[in-house]
Amino acid sequence: MGMHCLVDHHVLNVGVSPVAQRSHRRFAIGPTRPLCLFTRKYRLAMMSRVIDLRSDTLTVPDEGMRRAMAEAPVGDDVYSEDPTVNALQERVAAMFGKQAALFVPSGTQGNQICLALHATTGDEVIAESGAHIFHYENAATSVVARAQIHAVASDAGEMPLERVRSAIRPRAYYYPRTAVIAVENSHNRHGGTVLSTSYLRELHALAQDQGLPIHCDGARIWNAMVSTGESPLTYGEIFTTMSVCLSKGLGAPVGSLILGTQEHIERARRWRKMLGGGMRQVGVLAAAGLYALENILPLLPHDHRRARMFAERLAGIERVGIDTARVQTNVVVFTVSGMDDTTFMAACLSRGLRIATISPGRMRAVFYHQITDEDVSTCVGIIAEVLA
Ligand SMILES: Cc1ncc(COP(=O)(O)O)c(C=O)c1O
Repeated sequence: MGMHCLVDHHVLNVGVSPVAQRSHRRFAIGPTRPLCLFTRKYRLAMMSRVIDLRSDTLTVPDEGMRRAMAEAPVGDDVYSEDPTVNALQERVAAMFGKQAALFVPSGTQGNQICLALHATTGDEVIAESGAHIFHYENAATSVVARAQIHAVASDAGEMPLERVRSAIRPRAYYYPRTAVIAVENSHNRHGGTVLSTSYLRELHALAQDQGLPIHCDGARIWNAMVSTGESPLTYGEIFTTMSVCLSKGLGAPVGSLILGTQEHIERARRWRKMLGGGMRQVGVLAAAGLYALENILPLLPHDHRRARMFAERLAGIERVGIDTARVQTNVVVFTVSGMDDTTFMAACLSRGLRIATISPGRMRAVFYHQITDEDVSTCVGIIAEVLA
């Protein structure tokens, strides 16, 4: 009594749609009550379960993750005394071959602290024009690092090297100082596309030549690793600093890590405190990250396979426009003809599929470990029916 429990299989399966039956693992409910007291309202909610493909941030902790969180040894992390946080930081730093790592609450904070390690007042950050740091972080670079972003367009996330070269400012007192080149891998707004290792090596050579650091927004670096088969050590070698997220496809409820040299991390710790990100017995969250690295990371290839399966089936629907070659990880971007975004999304939702746009006219579906093969078929069926 008084503890959390997962909904019991047998009780829920009575009178519940197949979709709802499959989904029971996703719903944990509050304090334990006799199972017979599950309300009619709850069962109805389960019957109308919606498959939510808006983002891979929609994962919920599974039973094993919740157990790991509950059992984590903890301490005060502002004193650097949380053993679980320390273990997570050491593990991820070693994984990428970096000297040190720092646990931060979000990918946004991770990115912005890293940019502030490299850039300061009046500086410029070169970033791809669809970058998360440019579109979705409330212009935080202008507040935290107090620098501006110099956006460079690309087709799928790889800024052409000649454009990067010409974006680097000559040294003159009236120009901003170019402080850092930022990349995103995989690239969210371009549809989860992956930056090739050969491209990254060339970019690295250019940056070295110009004496510039490279920061990687690696919110989904795990997906890039799975797609290319590349060792994380390669990314650690190429990028001066990285921010990697545990709360996207890895399925943890919270958390990112900043990676860099010991000196970067000491400075990052000061920034984190200043931004209110110093946390106390946060090993309960770090434990979710450790669990995710062990148990969810190996599942990512299935997310990629399901994304591909979904994309290939959508390609067979007449009114869908899709470039399956761009489906490289767990994200699928597509267009629909003859129906506006709002009508399409509402029609899908009324049939049990929640989907969102990534920009006007472009739908995005994102796959994560709680979306099954059967869900893929259901979703394709819904879209085919909506567009019939
Ligand atoms: C590519 C990318 N970078 C950074 C972030 C920011 O992460 P958070 O939501 O944890 O701040 C996101 C969030 O979805 C993202 O997609």
